[in-house]
Amino acid sequence: MKKPSTPTSYLLLAPLAILLLVFLLPSLRPSPRDASDGLGVLCARRAGLSNATAVAAPPPVDVSSPPPSEPIDFSLLVGVLTMPSRRERRDIVRMAYALQPRAARARVDVRFVFCDVTDPVDAALLAVEIKRHGDIMVLNCTENMNDGKTYAYFSSVPRLFASGRRYDYVMKTDDDTYLRVAELAKELRGKPREDVYLGYGYAMGGQPMPFMHGMGYVVSWDVASWVAGAEEILARNDTLGPEDLMFGKWLNLAGRGRNRYDLKPRMYDLNWDMDNFRPDTVAVHTLKTNQRWAATFKYFNVTAGIKPSDLHHLP
Ligand SMILES: *[C@@H]1O[C@H](CO)[C@@H](O)[C@H](O)[C@H]1NC(C)=O
Ligand SMILES: *[C@@H]1O[C@H](CO)[C@@H](O)[C@H](O)[C@H]1NC(C)=O
Ligand SMILES: *[C@@H]1O[C@H](CO)[C@@H](O)[C@H](O)[C@H]1NC(C)=O
Ligand SMILES: *[C@@H]1O[C@H](CO)[C@@H](O)[C@H](O)[C@H]1NC(C)=O
Repeated sequence: MKKPSTPTSYLLLAPLAILLLVFLLPSLRPSPRDASDGLGVLCARRAGLSNATAVAAPPPVDVSSPPPSEPIDFSLLVGVLTMPSRRERRDIVRMAYALQPRAARARVDVRFVFCDVTDPVDAALLAVEIKRHGDIMVLNCTENMNDGKTYAYFSSVPRLFASGRRYDYVMKTDDDTYLRVAELAKELRGKPREDVYLGYGYAMGGQPMPFMHGMGYVVSWDVASWVAGAEEILARNDTLGPEDLMFGKWLNLAGRGRNRYDLKPRMYDLNWDMDNFRPDTVAVHTLKTNQRWAATFKYFNVTAGIKPSDLHHLP
């Protein structure tokens, strides 16, 4: 190979080198913390998010903000665990929540939940999302499937909302789950407000009590508060590993979440042929492609009822 011989060829390389510096260096930084430190605290400073969050965001569009005069039976926080890069999915999920019937006599807030945002581009785009939608939580944890994000979420929520309005129930769900909030609210309305662990239950390793599948589960506020304070979870390194299974393990070992409710078959995975939708669905999971979201929106009539207009002609 011929060595670059003239100053011009070096000059040509310079912009490339700068690009490499700008884009590669941030990603080469060592992972800043391990999961046992993931005591989720709102921590947007490192990525420069703080300037953006300091700007007063408009009130978030809550799927189920009841009219002020309507009495409330209970409140529910829904945390959708996702990642900054999944912008298109988040847009779909946000619409899925916004375009569904409101749950009667309940307050339901939906938030997209992230670990620490380290990439400056992600941070800038997320800052804009915060300003527009105001429905984002950034926890103090490292983005990773099985690295303590669920723990960070459930342990942060009681602290984050300690001084303001708290919730009766805290839910974790995913960005490939279509949750029908009004149907879930119907299930919760008659349930106890304490010691609750509800979702798609499955038996595991001869345990007497079912674990709840990661597609979505609800705990009462006291259970989330217990998780936040349970040093035993950290002492056993029990924040690592298959998170939803671990969650069940924490509760089983401590005898918590004894009011368990299995919502099968109203919570389920969409099958390959996409033909197992049910009208009484609470949650349908494995919506990992736009095609599957499209089928879901069609089945639940989210696509219906568009007023005729010269401006759009949809097939
Ligand atoms: C976030 O975690 C880091 C690493 O453990 C810790 O030093 C820092 O204090 C935490 N941030 C907050 C706001 O608690
Ligand atoms: C962001 O905030 C930091 C610290 O408050 C400040 O030094 C910096 O100038 C701010 N940046 C912008 C773009 O406002
Ligand atoms: C937890 O993990 C730390 C760091 O990997 C290790 O030093 C410690 O022995 C572990 N504790 C238990 C109870 O496994
Ligand atoms: C969607 O609308 C059709 C026609 O009105 C109705 O028959 C069907 O039950 C609706 N589907 C659901 C899931 O509500």
